[in-house]
Amino acid sequence: MRTIGVLTSGGDAPGMNAAIRAVVRTGIDHGLKVMGIHRGYSGLINGEIFEMDRRSVSDIIHKGGTILKTARCEEFTTDAGREKAVNVLKVFGIDGLVVIGGDGSFRGAQALSKLGVAAVGIPGTIDNDLAYTQYTVGFDTALNTVLDAINKIRDTSSSHERISIIEVMGRNCGDIALYTGIAGGAEKVIIPEKGYDLNELCRIIIEGKIRGKLHNLILLAEGVGGANELASKVENVTGIETRSTILGHIQRGGSPSAFDRILASTMGARAVELLIEGKSSRVVGVQGGKISDMDIDEALSMKHEFNEYLYNLSRVLSY
Ligand code: F6P
Repeated sequence: MRTIGVLTSGGDAPGMNAAIRAVVRTGIDHGLKVMGIHRGYSGLINGEIFEMDRRSVSDIIHKGGTILKTARCEEFTTDAGREKAVNVLKVFGIDGLVVIGGDGSFRGAQALSKLGVAAVGIPGTIDNDLAYTQYTVGFDTALNTVLDAINKIRDTSSSHERISIIEVMGRNCGDIALYTGIAGGAEKVIIPEKGYDLNELCRIIIEGKIRGKLHNLILLAEGVGGANELASKVENVTGIETRSTILGHIQRGGSPSAFDRILASTMGARAVELLIEGKSSRVVGVQGGKISDMDIDEALSMKHEFNEYLYNLSRVLSY
């Protein structure tokens, strides 16, 4: 292994820059040449590749987004696109590739592995939807961003004695809603893994009001449906003024938390070590608080399980 490449792909996540920095500096520390690839797989196909040195990753550990830019690439989902990518890697002399991204990006890395490329994945997504790892880079920062918003919404919700429905991201995964629901003291968490019953939801709200609750904070994962629609349904049934807030892309930005910076730094270093050890087609993760790695096929075949205990706890603690 003499030259490695690094790219970020799919939706950005806070901490991606810390991961890039760790890949570049660990690679150089081991005597490797490290090439940055702009705009994910799209930039790979187009040869948007440049050499990185230690200084090229200075002053980025605290920054959200990704200095390498990111993209979702249609062409790369085709056989022709993937073959082009393999050829470009050969032309640039890249023997190993580190892919930082989510599920879709890992499927790209898996496809490249099948074509003989030594690839290692680092989970970078706010969604925390990859089953093989307890945490993905960016999740913790997104939780803190959502929590900050919940605290603010709680103030105005209490003053007006309203119901607030807060829609958060996560695709088909409810982790952002579940974890922030616990941390923010939400009255109800609605996640795709469980769904919800409108009558039961309204009953919880009305009973809470009778017990003297000033506000009702409902955390809604986007995978279940839209907050606007739910707000008007809830208002119709309960007769209580209801407002919706869709937090949107604010959840993807911001300076990464200490947890995400440390996670990204250790995962970045481990990814490079795996390539040096000749272990490719792997993904780096965290299990039992320790950095781990797993075969990419196995990792992608696992189904993400939501934390049932936390879900039940959110119900108990909201009373
Ligand atoms: O995967 C990250 C994510 O932010 C999801 O939570 C969300 O559904 C999606 O990306 C939004 O994608 P885009 O930025 O393309 O609108």
